Amino acid sequence: MSLFVKKPLDQILAQAADSEKGLKRTLGAGNLIALGIGAIIGAGLFVRTAAAAGQAAGPAVTLSFIVAAIGCAFAGLCYAEFASMIPIAGSAYAYSYVTMGELVAWIIGWALIMEYALGAATVSIAWSEYLNKLLGGGIPYEWCHSPFESFTDSAGVYHQGIMNAPALIILLALTLLLIKGTQESALVNAVIVFIKVAIVILFIAIGWQFIRPENHTPYLIPADTAPIADQAGKIIADYSGWNKHGWGGVLGGAAIVFFAFIGFDAVSTAAQEAKNPKRDMPIGILGSLVICTILYILFGHVLTGVAPWTDFVDPEKGREASVAYAISTYMTDYQWLANAVTVAILAGFSSVILVMLMGQSRIFYTMSNDGLIPKAFGELHPKFKTPYKSNWILFFFVGGFAAFVPGHVAGDLTSFGTLFAFVLVSIGVWILRVKSPEIERPFKAPMVPVVCTLGAIICTAMIVGLDMQTLKVAFLWMAIGLVVYFAYSRHHSKLKK
Ligand code: ALA
Repeated sequence: MSLFVKKPLDQILAQAADSEKGLKRTLGAGNLIALGIGAIIGAGLFVRTAAAAGQAAGPAVTLSFIVAAIGCAFAGLCYAEFASMIPIAGSAYAYSYVTMGELVAWIIGWALIMEYALGAATVSIAWSEYLNKLLGGGIPYEWCHSPFESFTDSAGVYHQGIMNAPALIILLALTLLLIKGTQESALVNAVIVFIKVAIVILFIAIGWQFIRPENHTPYLIPADTAPIADQAGKIIADYSGWNKHGWGGVLGGAAIVFFAFIGFDAVSTAAQEAKNPKRDMPIGILGSLVICTILYILFGHVLTGVAPWTDFVDPEKGREASVAYAISTYMTDYQWLANAVTVAILAGFSSVILVMLMGQSRIFYTMSNDGLIPKAFGELHPKFKTPYKSNWILFFFVGGFAAFVPGHVAGDLTSFGTLFAFVLVSIGVWILRVKSPEIERPFKAPMVPVVCTLGAIICTAMIVGLDMQTLKVAFLWMAIGLVVYFAYSRHHSKLKK
């Protein structure tokens, strides 16, 4: 049987129509934008902005945001076309099953595990950083860092991480919540979005007065910047690589902050619940993207203006919980803001983790219904009607990463998985335009194939901008996926049967 057997579009549309009976079209454009922002603003902004500035882009992290946003906008247009045309759960995985066949769908599904599962792990690690900050650094280094992290403090004492316990605890709490079926109502989501956006705007408005122009000069990291070492002399940042300084660093920074945009594609999963998907899906996807991009650029400008970007490399300064650090160190009269930011961030991160875990279990659910992964992933709890087994398996998997892997590693892998899906979605839109021009498309991405090609190119460029180490682990992950496919999924595929 062909590896490229495609799910007939009629079958998917019939499934969508079927499930539509159960779902009400209640979401307007405003709700969709709020949904997007709820899933978008999180660790990417509050943690990785500083990481990108410290490791690759310097103050030009603002330009990194622009590059990442352009890539997302092109991919977003393609997502909007698919989401309005194939309004079914499973997102990029489902779209590619129709357009590029089972093997490619499997590969995307496998990559999406990196997006959602590792995304949840990354944000839970960031949650742990901010919790520690809120508790005044009271959690011992050993118990809130992975075994791959270590540092020597100013007293010369060496610390080695054991496991990230707070990250594990928040994941457990949210997993239990998901199993119980507690749904974030539109109201709860709106409240969290309001708090998050208000805090970002407050930080921009107040921080603006504390910008010191010398922190913005030079704007790009110079090629001859010396490596930075910690107290023990261990190099913790090296700027010699092509993607670590100058314009290359802007691209390297874009690959890092790209994480901050992940989530707008989650709007596409609500396609079945949109009142007027033709008009509102593009508004929801692109509207949340535009609002976040503007906030991100201003935020990056203020953060690197308030604190020198080199502070964001130093583990004893602003490498962790960077926003709270910048406020407490350089905006000393605003300690209350640092605390308010931290509390809002903790609430905001929780909603991102929840959406990610939920998104992952929906994708597992669809893949399991297709027979590509074991039935357990699709089994519902007799009482709560949630995919509880899937949630537990996910907890152990995500928890393993959160407890034992450094945040930036999990974060970069998340970006890889998402970018990879974006590339294939962009190409998929084009393929379907050529192969099935007759299908009704409530929303059409403009200027196809230019938009598809640019989306694929920019997202590929960001993949290339990722660390070599990340790429190696990502390819290893994808190779494991192929082994699983040929050993298991291919023989269990319902479509082939
Ligand atoms: N965009 C989400 C975040 O930054 C994943 O936390």
